[in-house]
Amino acid sequence: MRRAVSQRYRRCIASALAALWLVAALAGCGRQDDVVELKMAHALSATHPVHRAMLYMAERLEHHSGGTMRLEVYAGGQLGSERELIELLQIGSIAMTKVSTSPLEGFVPEMKIFNVPYLFRDEAHYYAVLDSEIGEQLLLAPQRVRLRGLGWYDAGSRSFYTVTKPIEAPGDLAGLKIRVQESQAALQMVTSFGAAPTPIAFGEIYTALQQGVVDGAENNPPSYYLSGHYEVAKYYTLDEHTTVPDILLISQYVWERLEPEQREWLQQAVDESVAYQRELWREETEVALAAVEAAGARVIRPDKEAFAGQVNGIHALFDGTAVGELIERIRAFH
Ligand code: GCU
Repeated sequence: MRRAVSQRYRRCIASALAALWLVAALAGCGRQDDVVELKMAHALSATHPVHRAMLYMAERLEHHSGGTMRLEVYAGGQLGSERELIELLQIGSIAMTKVSTSPLEGFVPEMKIFNVPYLFRDEAHYYAVLDSEIGEQLLLAPQRVRLRGLGWYDAGSRSFYTVTKPIEAPGDLAGLKIRVQESQAALQMVTSFGAAPTPIAFGEIYTALQQGVVDGAENNPPSYYLSGHYEVAKYYTLDEHTTVPDILLISQYVWERLEPEQREWLQQAVDESVAYQRELWREETEVALAAVEAAGARVIRPDKEAFAGQVNGIHALFDGTAVGELIERIRAFH
C-alpha cells in the first residue's frame, strides 16, 4: 500500500516537473537558479552588425539585472526563417527575434509602409519618424498578433544587385527575375520597376543567384557583403529604393510573464543596443562597400531621381488605406 502511494507520489512529481519543463520550454524563457534565460534567434550571420548589437544587448541585460537575466542569441537562421521565427514567437517557443518589417506585413499590414519606395526624404527624416509617435505606434501594432515591438535596428536602404548585367537605369530592370522578401508590398514595388519578383527566404538567395533561379536581388550593403552575395552578383546599383528597418520583437506571452522591473531592465538593454547598432551601422556600411569593391564587385551610383520617377505611381495603390494615411503623415513629418 505504502509502495503504491509512493509510486503514485513519484509519478505525480514527475508529471508536475514535466509540466513545468514544458511551460518553461514553451515560454522560450527558462529559469535556472533564479536566472531568467531568454532565447533570441535571427536570420543574419554572426558577423553581421545586427548580431554584434544583440551580443551587446545581452551584456547590458546581465548588467542591469545583476546577472539574473540572460539572453542567448542564435544566428544564421538555425532556428528558422524570419517568417517561421515570427510564428515561433507567437506560440512563445522563442522569446525574442529581430526580423525585417517585410515578412511582418503578413501579420501586421501597416508594416507595408516601409516598402513604399522613396518615402523618406533622407536619413534624418527616417530616424526622426522611427523615433516619433509614428514609430512608437508601429512598434506596438504587433500586439494584436501576440508580439511586442521593443525597438528598431537600422537596416539602411535597399538597392538592386545583379548577376549578368549591370542596372544603370530603371529600364534595365525590365523582365529581370528579382528575389524579394516575403512581402506583398515588395512584390508590388519590384513589379512597378518592370521586373518579375520572386519571393525567396534570405538563407536561400545565394544558391538561387548561383543557379540562375533569379537574375538578381536587393539588399543593404552589409547584408550584400556579409551574405557573400557579391561573389555571385557582382553588379550593385545604389538606387536605394526602400528603407526597410529591422524590428526587435518579444513574444507577448513571455513579456506578460516578466516582472515589471525585469521588463524595465530588458527595455533599457534594448535601447542601449539600438543606439549602439546605429553607430555600428554607419561604419559597417562603409566597410561593406569598400570590401565588395576590393573583391571585384562593381558599385554603380545611378541617377536616383530616374528610379524614383519610375515608381511614383505606386503611392496611389495605397489611397484610402491605413498605409495611404501613414504615407501622408510621414511626408508631412518634419
Ligand atoms: C535585411 C534584413 C534581414 C532580412 C534581409 C532579407 O538584411 O536586415 O532581416 O532577412 O534583409 O532580404 O531577407
